Amino acid sequence: MRRRVKSGASPTFRKDMANNTQGFSSTFGAIMAAAGSAIGLGNIWRFPYICGKYGGGAALVLYLLFVFVIGMTLLLSELVIGRRSGHAAVMAYATLKPKRPQWRYIGLFGVVTCFLILAIYYVISGWTLNYFWESVNGTLSHITSGTFDAHFSSFASSAAMPLVCLLVFAAINLIIILCGVQNGIEKVSKLLMPLLLALVVLLCVRSLTLPGASQGLYYLFHPDFSLLTAEGVLAILGQALFSLSVGMGVMVAYGSYLPKGDNLFRSAMWITACDTAIAILAGVAIFPAVFATGQDPAGGPGLVFIVLPSVFNSLGTVGSILFGGAFFLLLAVAALTSSISLLEGITMGFGEMLGTGRKRTSLVMSVGLVLLGIVIAFSYEGGLFSSFRPGGMTLFDWFDKLSGSYLPPMCALLTIVFFGWFMPKDDIHDELSNHGKERTSWFGVFYYVLVRFVAPLALLVVLIGGIF
Ligand code: PFF
Repeated sequence: MRRRVKSGASPTFRKDMANNTQGFSSTFGAIMAAAGSAIGLGNIWRFPYICGKYGGGAALVLYLLFVFVIGMTLLLSELVIGRRSGHAAVMAYATLKPKRPQWRYIGLFGVVTCFLILAIYYVISGWTLNYFWESVNGTLSHITSGTFDAHFSSFASSAAMPLVCLLVFAAINLIIILCGVQNGIEKVSKLLMPLLLALVVLLCVRSLTLPGASQGLYYLFHPDFSLLTAEGVLAILGQALFSLSVGMGVMVAYGSYLPKGDNLFRSAMWITACDTAIAILAGVAIFPAVFATGQDPAGGPGLVFIVLPSVFNSLGTVGSILFGGAFFLLLAVAALTSSISLLEGITMGFGEMLGTGRKRTSLVMSVGLVLLGIVIAFSYEGGLFSSFRPGGMTLFDWFDKLSGSYLPPMCALLTIVFFGWFMPKDDIHDELSNHGKERTSWFGVFYYVLVRFVAPLALLVVLIGGIF
């Protein structure tokens, strides 16, 4: 039985929504947009490093288990909440539980988390734009090997360029969001996702044909269970959740745009498979080249902005322009399709709650994000505000830690508890089976085992592990 849900959005906003956001036009567009959200900076600079560091093939097997079992459980729950309610994070909870308005605070928590993540995401995405530009205009190919560290420090701690790049990246995001769900997010994702795949395949081919590439593959895939520590297990689980973009309500907003007859399980499978495939391909594109050129397989910003430019540099001027350009374009594209999903989650979350409409909300939020982004950018090591260190860490590190390790699992835990223990089981089954039209023999295991126990316990462990 399909229960009708009461809408909580104001008339102004609903009119505005009708103009701009009728939802995704097709299943393919929806999957591209959601996979675009999932495939981001995390796939390229964090996943390969985590795999290599915590046991190669052993870490990969565990990652596959976590992402397809726990990550997908969370993804499905957010998609169901979004599509069932027809709303983004905040109003979705208020709509599904009209008599218990306090549930909307879970959504609000998610939207605020999105805001914090996006501010730091804008800063780092801006850096990728700068490096793309420096690759294609030949600047990076003229830098002496061994001085990329100094080059990155001087760029990141300077005032002008990080700011310009941040503004450009924020403006691109705002324009896409202002174009709406179908004409903005869906069109851009359908165009950029195939480009992203082409770029990563091109880089894989180049990397694998370098002499000595096999050492990188060994590092990435050779299973070594002795490296799989407790810390590694936590890092792998955290990465699986971050990579699928779950826990912040972004997938609730995207769920509300999914076509009604879509098989949610199949869509979630596709999104997870695309995200995982690109993460593995990124590893294949990066590590063989890193080892072939005798570099250190570092992680995070160090890998992307210091180690890799020096790898491209060793391929000669043309190689550096071509492959460095392709790599930073890949990174910028991956960052863009993720950041638009965050801005959409924020815009719809706050917009529906306050009834302020798409245009006004996205504009005001973008101004706020840029202001916060400036503070974060200038607090990077060596920057204008870097001497301000509450608790011994720069603001940049605080934001990185909060948005990466603490807030998303907290939010995801609240979401899955709501979904498993407070949302009517029949509503969930009705949505997943498309009112009884799809076979759902897996539902019992999904609901009674994964949703109610395995996923909340795993999130609790990640949270406690992250704090201690
Ligand atoms: N999944 C993205 C990545 O791997 O970089 C990051 C992300 C995007 C997290 C959107 C959360 C989100 F809502």
